[in-house]
Amino acid sequence: MLTLDVTGAHARLLAGLERKGRARRLIAARGVDFASNDYLALAQAPRIAQAISAALARGVPMGAGGSRLLRGHHPEHAALEMEAARHFGAQKALYFANGFAANLALFSTLPRREDLIVYDELIHASAIDGISASKAKVVAAPHNDAQAVDDAIRAWREQGGLGHAWIAVETLYSMDGDRAPVHDLMQVANRHEAILVVDEAHATGVFGPQGRGLASAYEGRDNLISLHTCGKALGASGGLICAAATFIDYLINRARPFVYSTAPSPLMAVGVREALRMVADTPTLAQDLQERVAFARARLGDLNIETMGNAHIIPILIRDNARAVRVSAALADEGFDIRAIRPPTVPEGTARLRISITLNASEDDMTRMSAALAHTLAKSV
Ligand SMILES: Cc1ncc(COP(=O)(O)O)c(C=O)c1O
Repeated sequence: MLTLDVTGAHARLLAGLERKGRARRLIAARGVDFASNDYLALAQAPRIAQAISAALARGVPMGAGGSRLLRGHHPEHAALEMEAARHFGAQKALYFANGFAANLALFSTLPRREDLIVYDELIHASAIDGISASKAKVVAAPHNDAQAVDDAIRAWREQGGLGHAWIAVETLYSMDGDRAPVHDLMQVANRHEAILVVDEAHATGVFGPQGRGLASAYEGRDNLISLHTCGKALGASGGLICAAATFIDYLINRARPFVYSTAPSPLMAVGVREALRMVADTPTLAQDLQERVAFARARLGDLNIETMGNAHIIPILIRDNARAVRVSAALADEGFDIRAIRPPTVPEGTARLRISITLNASEDDMTRMSAALAHTLAKSV
């Protein structure tokens, strides 16, 4: 039999990742949850499960059966989008199967060739991929630097830039746990007739009135587009782009990840709608989370563990890739699920543990986790 070495090049690349402590593996959930984005513990909420069971019982199908533009458009998609638009104060909303596809669609479709996209250097990979697929001119701005965004737009205009500028940021950064200067960025956008695109992935359900996010004060403006992912605090999956009706109608016509993809499960649309209702009518969820975040940060502080950010994502800088993996594995042995985040997800030399505070972990869990982390860090220098 003819044997071909078709995998050799990839095997060598994998070995290179292994040498640099960058190899990734699939590891199932282990121990108490300090790793998921299920911030409000809605992934297993009985109320949402019941809404989905009721939908199944009345004949809502699991599969959509096609693209939204063909036979895949189900009344449950439309109902979710109506409710999401109302909830997030937008003219219209559009539901994607996940946040990655939503970001890819948004940035690859809306900015035009004559436009400029200025994006925060720490923005999520899905936005980066969308931006790379865009024909617009692209500039990266230093993290959370509204002045640099302003300067970039001004410089582009001076060089004859004629279209619109798009500003792409996250409101709460997923790997650093810090917040964008949304107010300053909105002012920059207004000054330049630019469009501010906020990815609320880690803020949706957690911050703002009724969990409407960190940019909720600016809802309804034509020059604000928000992305609310549904796989994090909403406990489900999907991505909702909320925007002016014209932008949504354009995406329906032109966004390839929307046009050429099977619609998300109508049952998932039911689950997301119920999750939105839950965050709207149960403000204690977000309040409880804030209390647990304060508790966890205080316990870590008591033990002199240095943390980053100021929200429910608590990164601990380790720097060395291999050490980050070792600490994560040692914590798993003690019953705590805390994952190591390494380059290229974060910049070289900034490997970290990413502690995620959710309602899946009690205050007692947090006290025990903090103690385990302190002695593991001390042991593994
Ligand atoms: C900031 C941000 N945007 C978008 C996404 C993609 O969302 P999804 O997981 O729904 O594909 C993520 C997920 O990790 C994220 O952290």
